[in-house]
Amino acid sequence: MIDNIKELITEVEAFKAQTKEEVEAFRIKYLGKKGLLNAFFAEFKNVANDQKKEFGQTINTLKKTAEDKVNTLKAELESKEEVKGVSGDLSRPGEPLQIGARHPISIVKNQIIDIFSSIGFNVSEGPEIEDDWHNFTALNLPEYHPARDMQDTFFIQTNPDILLRTHTSSVQVRYMENNKPPIRTISPGRVYRNEAISARSHCFFHQVEGLYIDKDVSFADLKQTLQYFTTEMFGKSKIRLRPSYFPFTEPSAEIDVYWGLETETDYKITKGTGWLEIGGCGMVDPNVLENCKIDATEYSGFAFGVGIDRIAMLLYQIDDIRLLSENDVRFLEQFKSAL
Ligand code: DAH
Repeated sequence: MIDNIKELITEVEAFKAQTKEEVEAFRIKYLGKKGLLNAFFAEFKNVANDQKKEFGQTINTLKKTAEDKVNTLKAELESKEEVKGVSGDLSRPGEPLQIGARHPISIVKNQIIDIFSSIGFNVSEGPEIEDDWHNFTALNLPEYHPARDMQDTFFIQTNPDILLRTHTSSVQVRYMENNKPPIRTISPGRVYRNEAISARSHCFFHQVEGLYIDKDVSFADLKQTLQYFTTEMFGKSKIRLRPSYFPFTEPSAEIDVYWGLETETDYKITKGTGWLEIGGCGMVDPNVLENCKIDATEYSGFAFGVGIDRIAMLLYQIDDIRLLSENDVRFLEQFKSAL
């Protein structure tokens, strides 16, 4: 009888099934209530004592082999079914991959980085949660300076020393504190202002700060750099630097680009003047240099700050700034072709 069982073990090992029904029939034959194994177990008491051990071991092997077989066959058939469920006809052409798109803010930011990299500027970043020193005081805006009101500030809880940066000019300070001139860096990033949200303004937006510090840097260098930038960015080289005031620069100016008045949209976005304001700039105030431990008698420099959202809205004719942060896929999908 032991030899019989051993033959059955070989048979079980070699068993193959194509369908679940075949596996079930196999299971009933060996492992079912009235199956072969139970019959062998019932036979156990009739086996001669000296053979009991071998008999017991052999039927246990048969039982284990049959159980393993049933489990592997079931698993194999199930996984085949799953594959069928997913792809059905394997010769069908593949599903097209959904390709994402870069956000317009990233597209414009990367363009700005490329333009300034090509004239030797590196990229620096700073924290969005800032302290008073880097956002205001070091930039020549001491406590109670009226110009602090130009930028409505979000403070973190009740600590007036910690705030959400209102401009990327804070990164200028950090960069000058940690690097020696010559300095040529641009700092893109998100900034926050406590303003009512509308189609034209948001409580957060994006800027790129530029900083150039070396010996004998002049206002002419600033103008030339901005002119190079606007030509590369917009294909427009006519710029105007309108006198203005920023506490961290002296003299200071507003940067206007001549956009033209060819279309109705041109009239709209330039309010009928043809000129478009893209940011502020100026010669870094000596007080700021000294605050950052740079010798103002030896070095001078220029700085500028440009709004990324504005430029993106202009280039892509987006008429509501809120679209830039709503993450509406119908809007975002439109930038697939732009890189
Ligand atoms: N920080 C200014 C703002 O957010 C923009 C700016 C103006 C930056 C003049 C500069 C600058 O670096 O020189 O309104």
